[in-house]
Amino acid sequence: MGHESNREDDPHSSGFLCTRSPELRRDASHAPLFKVTVGTIVNWRNIAITVIDRVVSIDACLQEYVRVASLHVKRNPVCKPDGIMAGHVLGTMAHNRMNDNVTQSIRESYDRLADEYARRIFNELQQKPLDRELLSRFAAEIARGGEVCDIGCGPGHVARYLHDAGAAIFGLDISPRMLAQARQLNPDISFHEGNMMALDLQDGMLAGISAFYAIVNIPKTSLPSVFREMRRVLQPGGLLLLAFHTGDEILHEDELWGRHVSMDFFLFSPLAIQRHLEAAGFAIEEIIEREPYPPEVEYQSRRAYIFARKPGRLAQCATTLPTR
Ligand SMILES: C[S@@+](CC[C@H](N)C(=O)[O-])C[C@H]1O[C@@H](n2cnc3c(N)ncnc32)[C@H](O)[C@@H]1O
Repeated sequence: MGHESNREDDPHSSGFLCTRSPELRRDASHAPLFKVTVGTIVNWRNIAITVIDRVVSIDACLQEYVRVASLHVKRNPVCKPDGIMAGHVLGTMAHNRMNDNVTQSIRESYDRLADEYARRIFNELQQKPLDRELLSRFAAEIARGGEVCDIGCGPGHVARYLHDAGAAIFGLDISPRMLAQARQLNPDISFHEGNMMALDLQDGMLAGISAFYAIVNIPKTSLPSVFREMRRVLQPGGLLLLAFHTGDEILHEDELWGRHVSMDFFLFSPLAIQRHLEAAGFAIEEIIEREPYPPEVEYQSRRAYIFARKPGRLAQCATTLPTR
């Protein structure tokens, strides 16, 4: 996959690479895993970047770098890939290292919130008729298609609803304590620890993904890789149902429900999310927006739901799914 980038805030920009490279060269051997990115500077404001869409070890990354660098040289003898492209590899390590720190902070914050989150949120769907209707539609669409993952599942109430609607669901979340709550509240559903930025799931293994408020802590620069990962693990014809808070603010919280946390919450415009999903290869089927339910039911933000499909036709699963 390749794309052009010339944005000031792009983590792969030249300034970023210049300041980060020396420190990363020292650091590189400690980064366990990262996404491979290599590129060619056309000029300082125009960088052609190739993202090889895999999470790999350092050795595999460097091998991939050498392979792609030599291809670039063969195709375009005027480009000078050596230091510059190595810089991109290192720049990507830096980006991933920063992501690791953010991810760690998100995990710890949700760990601290988990019991209170479960207490306050686990029964919320009882008071959210539109959410129930959309989840029922989603379950009917992917019925008999195969496994479904609830990403960023929290205490597992969305997974619970989909399970009860007949979906072959499992939950995935980054927070071990959130997962402990989910397992306790839903002993008949499987829950796994995982990171939506690098899903430990096979290509094309899912009929559907639900992701309710799962992207609230994902910075917009990481949305492309999150949506590419979601598309990768869906079967052709697989369906994504995404819910998020709409807006364009970033809210930082150091304390929630009396617990110390450190998290940014990102609000997104439905149009921006639509564009990211389309860029990741999804076809948008429907975007629904609603005003918030009353304050005693939920946080007062406008909500959006997007049904998006990986192009293709969903295969019917031969196994018999539970009927309810
Ligand atoms: C706002 S909560 C939403 C929980 C639930 N889906 C709901 O509707 O209430 C966000 C959840 O996403 C999880 N999460 C955040 N970043 C994640 C990541 N990179 N990968 C997997 N889960 C993540 C958090 O641990 C948390 O449980």
